Amino acid sequence: MSTREREKNILIESELGTEGPNSSSASVARDGGVKERDFASDCGIKPEILVSRMRSVSLSSKSRTGNVNEETGTSNLEYKPEAWMIPDQAEDRLSQLNLAIVGHVDSGKSTLSGRLLHLLGRISQKEMHRHEKEAKQQGKGSFAYAWALDESAEERERGITMTVAVAFFNSRKYHVVLLDSPGHRDFVPNMISGATQADAAILVVDASMGSFEAGLDPIGGQTREHALLIRSFGVDQIIVVVNKMDVVEYSQERFEMVKQKLGTFLRSCGFKDSSVLWVPASSMENQNLVATPDERLFSWFHGPCLLDAIDSLQLPARDYSKPLLMPICDIIKSQSQGQVSTCGKLVTGAIRTGSKVLIMPSREVATIRSLERDSQACKIARSGDNVTVNLQGIENNHVTAGGVLCHPDFPVRVSNHLELKILVLDIKIPILSGSQLELHIHHAKEAATVVKILSLLDPKTGKVTKKSPRCILAKQNAVVEVVLQGSVCVEEYAESRALGRVSLRSSGRTVALGLVTQIMKTQ
Ligand code: GTP
Ligand code: MG
Repeated sequence: MSTREREKNILIESELGTEGPNSSSASVARDGGVKERDFASDCGIKPEILVSRMRSVSLSSKSRTGNVNEETGTSNLEYKPEAWMIPDQAEDRLSQLNLAIVGHVDSGKSTLSGRLLHLLGRISQKEMHRHEKEAKQQGKGSFAYAWALDESAEERERGITMTVAVAFFNSRKYHVVLLDSPGHRDFVPNMISGATQADAAILVVDASMGSFEAGLDPIGGQTREHALLIRSFGVDQIIVVVNKMDVVEYSQERFEMVKQKLGTFLRSCGFKDSSVLWVPASSMENQNLVATPDERLFSWFHGPCLLDAIDSLQLPARDYSKPLLMPICDIIKSQSQGQVSTCGKLVTGAIRTGSKVLIMPSREVATIRSLERDSQACKIARSGDNVTVNLQGIENNHVTAGGVLCHPDFPVRVSNHLELKILVLDIKIPILSGSQLELHIHHAKEAATVVKILSLLDPKTGKVTKKSPRCILAKQNAVVEVVLQGSVCVEEYAESRALGRVSLRSSGRTVALGLVTQIMKTQ
């Protein structure tokens, strides 16, 4: 093993074991093995049609760190952030907290989000009246608050969220970017793309009889799948809102039962008890959201209301020391020629108006015309900020969701051939060499073929227990090689957590969570 490989290995192992707000997936042991846990996950979802969104490009797979960049001859070791890239402690602005709202279908995520926005003055009384009137006219009166988030005709007609809605509000401590995810199993890929930006999450569960149980069902329960996915994105702080408490007459007994059952499962996903906050609430009756609830809850619950719970979350550490990386979540095409807007969260680095950025994988350079943070113009965006970046000097077809904005001298790597360390969930059909899966990485999705199963690992020690096994069974840890249909922007996990984590899905179910251990030459 070369010195560089050894260093990289040590790094991977210590990163995997890190705990705290900036920690990695807890599904991975301190020693580098992926821990076997009670990942009795998961849900049957109808097969989805794979959409190949990224153009297949063949670029070298040189690392951004420590390796010389082919084109410029510069090295990442030389990268030094400029003064404006580091936030000034005295800067008078609230920090942005990216908060994903996740959970089983119909648990009340959009209603909760709409209520919060209304209570905090982000939705006017007039707008609310309009939603109420329109929802009633369509015989969907109970969805009035959800309609603030579910804007499309199809979402309203079906009464479900299909794409992630983004909204903003201020708490005392944070500028919160709310990512209201779809709970329906058909839209888990959208949930993955949105929630991969989360710093923390609110997991909404429906307290009513049968509904909570359906969410935890190993076949079809999105409470399970969402909790596992969120944890695999590195989120380790979670607020569980036990919603619809009105339906169970604010029963303490029911709340304790939910807490006990779900708590056990969250522990098995790797959430620490101390990082899980429990908030009984009713979005419909406005109980325990932004203020102390009435006697029905207050007689037995004296913990924080939801807004106070949000303020008690810790902001994950931001990385200002590395060059810019911003995975593109979405693009808005402009009528004006040469202008495109991209949305996403800066993983590392910073940008400002006038900065030049390299767009990957097209390798085109564009200039930042303007920036928007929380729908308001701003001059600078830094690591952790969720922004809209308006670009000029670029054609529409050179920018794709799933691509990445980079510092022009430090391009992200691009490949279709990866070595992954994976933790397999509770699958029924073993993974074989030749298995066809769907790989999700930041906002990109590609069809993947397992071309080699290199080894099985001991979950405790991370040591190889078997070389070249024929298959991988449920709950096993393994190292595999995959080849993707198209190339993706990717980094090794040791270099970038956000760009080095993957989830693998098949027939609409998440079958494995993984880390990129090696980027190989494009095939
Ligand atoms: P998806 O996005 O499709 O997963 O659903 P969702 O979790 O966003 O649920 P949504 O907010 O659309 O609400 C679903 C239904 O639950 C609606 O009829 C709401 O009125 C109802 N609901 C939401 N919160 C509460 C609550 O606190 N109490 C009661 N009784 N009903 C609620
Ligand atoms: Mg919804």
